[in-house]
Amino acid sequence: MELTQEELDILNGKEGETKAKIMKTVVEFGDVFGAKRLVPITHEGHLVTSFGIGLIKPLFRIMDEIIAAGIKTVYPFTIDPRPIDYENVKCNVLNKLIFSKIMYSQQKRYEEQLKEIGLRGENDFSCTCYMDEVGNIPKYGDILSWAESSAVVYANSVLGARCNRNSGMLDIFSLIIGKVPEFGLLTDEGRKADYIIELKTSKLPEAQILGSAIGLKVMEDVPYIVGLDKFLGTNLDDKTKSYLKDMGAASASNGAVGLYHVENLTPEAKNFGKKLIKKDAKIYVIDDEELERVYKSYPVLWKNVNAKPKLCFIGCPHLSYSQLYDWSKNIICELTKNNRKKILVKTIFTTSPQVKEKFSKTELYKEILKTGVKISSICPLMYTNNPLAGSKPIITNSNKLRTYSQSRYYKDDDILNIIAGKGVK
Ligand code: F3S
Repeated sequence: MELTQEELDILNGKEGETKAKIMKTVVEFGDVFGAKRLVPITHEGHLVTSFGIGLIKPLFRIMDEIIAAGIKTVYPFTIDPRPIDYENVKCNVLNKLIFSKIMYSQQKRYEEQLKEIGLRGENDFSCTCYMDEVGNIPKYGDILSWAESSAVVYANSVLGARCNRNSGMLDIFSLIIGKVPEFGLLTDEGRKADYIIELKTSKLPEAQILGSAIGLKVMEDVPYIVGLDKFLGTNLDDKTKSYLKDMGAASASNGAVGLYHVENLTPEAKNFGKKLIKKDAKIYVIDDEELERVYKSYPVLWKNVNAKPKLCFIGCPHLSYSQLYDWSKNIICELTKNNRKKILVKTIFTTSPQVKEKFSKTELYKEILKTGVKISSICPLMYTNNPLAGSKPIITNSNKLRTYSQSRYYKDDDILNIIAGKGVK
């Protein structure tokens, strides 16, 4: 990689040994991917590593070293959700012991470290940092150093910012240097589509299944989706953005999609249209049958596939305000229809602290809490990712949570039926 004199100076230790090591890591990372140079980051950061897992000792050691050297990130950053919330997501004594003494034993210390190097605020723990309420919203063309896969794909696709799918720690290191290696999704060529997705369904697909189908087919390639604007329209309003958030997260977790274009809808597709498609792009047709085939292919990892669900998570990635509102309304409606007051399965909505705060000022908030639903800002994956919680029959409408845990995926209508209606059809 060609480095400027200033970058070389940092690499050679002019700004201290710690910064030199950080620069070396960023440069070697860029070299691996054939980057020719470093380019400046132009917007706030977002970190993926939000959990103080005791076992990742090198992380805390590196953070201590950064702090001791007096180094801070060039922009403040938000970060993924916390792994625990004892108030809203109750744990039994054994679970609590495992969380506090073994799994997340370093949470407090780690959060202190994050504050020291540039964490934006006490409440800035959410994977949907790009929501209006949270306010870490990159502009079109901004260069980012983010790593959370669902946030990266959203920033690239829906906002038109530029960010690679970085790993944890690389997001912090680049944010300290203030620059990222230029390759992949940072380049015009890397943002061109390798796949055309021809959507031929009879209705708007479930976002989480459409994203899953796309991810499983294209893996890390860039898809250009034709036909989705027929259902979503051409404006990025709140509902459409929520849909794209969920579709993108599913494509990023079921495959490794970092950017998608939706014809007539996402900003680059609006600006450049079919010019974004590579000459040799492959075609993948998605119709109703194909979506059903993908849905039916999900394995059920519960010990007893007929077990009664014990817990339900809705909101991975975190729910937007309109989703929180709609889910609350729908559950209350379904309960009323079935002459019930309480939900049948313990259900947790997960959303950012800022969206929760806004929602808590509404009447609907009080009503939904009365049904037994809890609203939390944790990451459900961090909660389920241990042998005790993981062995529970948990259901979810999140394809990401399904992919990375033993939780069982259901479509939205089925979830509604299970928690507030007559059970699975
Ligand atoms: Fe967000 Fe955790 Fe899901 S980070 S996308 S809630 S796995």
